[in-house]
Amino acid sequence: MGKKKKNNKNEQRQVSQPPTDTSETTMPEPSDAINGIELLTEIGNSFQHISTMNYALPSPQRPLALIGWGAMPEQHALKMNYDTNLARLCKSVGIDGYNYMAFPMGGLGRAAFKLAEDSLDLPPISIPDAQFDQYLWQTYIIGTVSPWIDTDNPNPVLAKVSLDALREELDHALYLGVRNVVIPLRRVKSPNLMKLLNHYLWVRTAKFTISLVMPTRQDEFEDLTDLEDEDIFNIWVSIRRGLRNYTSERLTVGLRLTEAEMDDEFLIPEKYDRWHGEPLFLFILSTDSFVFSPSPPSLNSKMVEMVPAHRKIVFDLAISLENQRFLVMPKGQMWPIQRKQMVEYLTSFLNQKKSPLLPSQNDDRILTDVLLLPMETVWRDLSAADYDGLESDITKYQHYSEAIGYMIGNEIDLKNGLVIYILGAGRGGLVGPCLEIVKARFPHLHKIVRLIAVEKNPSACISLRYKNNTLWHGKLTIIEGDMRFVLKNPDLPKANLIISELLGSFGDNELAPECLRGAESICTPSTQFIPYQYSSLLSPICSHRATDQLRDSFVSVYDSERAINVRFNREAGKFIYSRPKHWTDHLYVSLLNRYHEAARPQEVSQFKYSHEDQNFERHVKLSYTIKHACEITGFLGHFVAVLASDIYIANSTRYPGGLSTCLKSWFPCYLPLREEIRVKGDSELILYFWRKCCDDGAWYEWKVTYTEYGTDEEKTTPLQNEGAESYFMPLRPKEEEIKELF
Ligand SMILES: C[S@@+](CC[C@H](N)C(=O)[O-])C[C@H]1O[C@@H](n2cnc3c(N)ncnc32)[C@H](O)[C@@H]1O
Repeated sequence: MGKKKKNNKNEQRQVSQPPTDTSETTMPEPSDAINGIELLTEIGNSFQHISTMNYALPSPQRPLALIGWGAMPEQHALKMNYDTNLARLCKSVGIDGYNYMAFPMGGLGRAAFKLAEDSLDLPPISIPDAQFDQYLWQTYIIGTVSPWIDTDNPNPVLAKVSLDALREELDHALYLGVRNVVIPLRRVKSPNLMKLLNHYLWVRTAKFTISLVMPTRQDEFEDLTDLEDEDIFNIWVSIRRGLRNYTSERLTVGLRLTEAEMDDEFLIPEKYDRWHGEPLFLFILSTDSFVFSPSPPSLNSKMVEMVPAHRKIVFDLAISLENQRFLVMPKGQMWPIQRKQMVEYLTSFLNQKKSPLLPSQNDDRILTDVLLLPMETVWRDLSAADYDGLESDITKYQHYSEAIGYMIGNEIDLKNGLVIYILGAGRGGLVGPCLEIVKARFPHLHKIVRLIAVEKNPSACISLRYKNNTLWHGKLTIIEGDMRFVLKNPDLPKANLIISELLGSFGDNELAPECLRGAESICTPSTQFIPYQYSSLLSPICSHRATDQLRDSFVSVYDSERAINVRFNREAGKFIYSRPKHWTDHLYVSLLNRYHEAARPQEVSQFKYSHEDQNFERHVKLSYTIKHACEITGFLGHFVAVLASDIYIANSTRYPGGLSTCLKSWFPCYLPLREEIRVKGDSELILYFWRKCCDDGAWYEWKVTYTEYGTDEEKTTPLQNEGAESYFMPLRPKEEEIKELF
């Protein structure tokens, strides 16, 4: 309480005195100076305040945006000795509602220096680490560098001094332990800066993340002549590639929203969408990103709105609030009350931004952008936890219920009763909805309906039997075993309706076509299927998070066996296990969030459940138009399945009519290219895709041809997964064929 009063008093003081500082009036007067111990207490208190803001997330699905305030060299003129009194500055900024401070790693005194040929005597670095605890440096301070540093100045003397100064400041940042250093890109051609960054990334392996900041106008570069790249986006891509695509968690990019108009590429959504695939972790807003009336520094000036173009691009590109930072760099005189208005505005505006992913699942945030291996349910048995996950997908069961109701009401001839098979019944997730819909909508059929569940997972069958006795009054017939074999029994009744849920993230990748072929013996020409048709779709994307994981083989596998391909050798009667030859030649499932989709998805294959469709091999050649020059790292895959009539389900976050999106059961998937390719704007990218089959399973092969950005050469990527050398989707052999399991 006492602390609050003190703040109020400070606020009162703010409105009765003119600003003495570009950022500060809430601090004690110099006469209130506090000693070292008090200082730490003060900073402890102020950061308690900030940390409450930062970590008390209102709910797991909505992390608070990380909004920071940047200290500027002009503040040095105020003689407040911030370099050794950083706590005070942080405190007042924290009380206003900012989560962190950006501060020059050489200190404000050094930042205020003006470098010139006749003025080369640099002030020394002047910020001691002892003024803060280590964790405070790590958590609440990000580093900036002296603004006069110009490592690639045409004057070699100034370039050399700048390079040395930058090295000193980065070394000090390493010493202080900050986690992030922000470096502006002043010139497009910056060989000296690149050499230095390369050294800090690849040799020193600095513990901080480097955020290279690009302006949003080309004419802000000091060497605008003879640009090789066509826009700022491609300038960044060239730099990233020049730094050998260092992991995108440590080499990130920031955008500084220029107060004057931004270039077209930052105004046209389909152009700036390309940044979604990049490690864009920082947005720098100047105070000019906000409209005040009357203009500051008037005491009465009030923030009216954010500049609309800045507001739009920040809103559209802010997709990962827990990673991305927003930094307000003040310009000129600013009253604390105005500083507060900006953060209040940004906080409420950014927190409107909902994750496009599942909003309710904490785990999904952890799994976001992580590559996982497909479940391979034909080959492996799922665990109770897996079934828990599948059964929590309310959307899926609602759609299945509707489809079952539709089929029974409209498509099924009920003359000879009603026989429903659930193939791959698991623990019975679909049994309950099926019985309920019959009871509710067709009560006359409830007594005569025959419900038969087929499941090969022996543990799940125990649960099925248990639920049959306790919940379903023994109405269910349970057949344990692989549907490809157990349905051959001629005594089984013919099906009116076959319900299954055998699709994988990419539709056919869990071998639904091969498994359901086993149902032939229980079918008649009038048998209906739910789903009755499904398509797999692919779109070319850029995702550096995915590439990072593949490059380092950080594929998230929870048990080593999952990383192993398996094939059954019939003659030997045993399984042969192998690791993929190329980790890139594999299908992954992933809740991808940070990616740029360079062209709309297209259908690579379609399957219909019918007697005619017996060939499960597919081959397509698809042409995508890449409108704007970009990099492609692979393809995003998903499926759309028609359950009945116009009732469908899909697993794309961007599928129109998102209500049918069942991401809890099926994450989308990712099909990588071996190397990222740079594709020219307004060119065609051709994908060649094959689904190939043999007696014991299936596999995909793929390659692309494209026009290369920069050279205009026609290029073809290597054929991936040729002959299933890295990724094979195996069918399980008959039990009697297996002589050796391990
Ligand atoms: C995605 S799960 C669906 C489970 C269930 N429908 C639910 O609502 O939770 C697929 C199930 O099909 C089973 N399955 C896959 N291939 C099979 C096969 N060839 N024969 C029998 N069951 C199979 C798996 O063991 C797994 O339980």
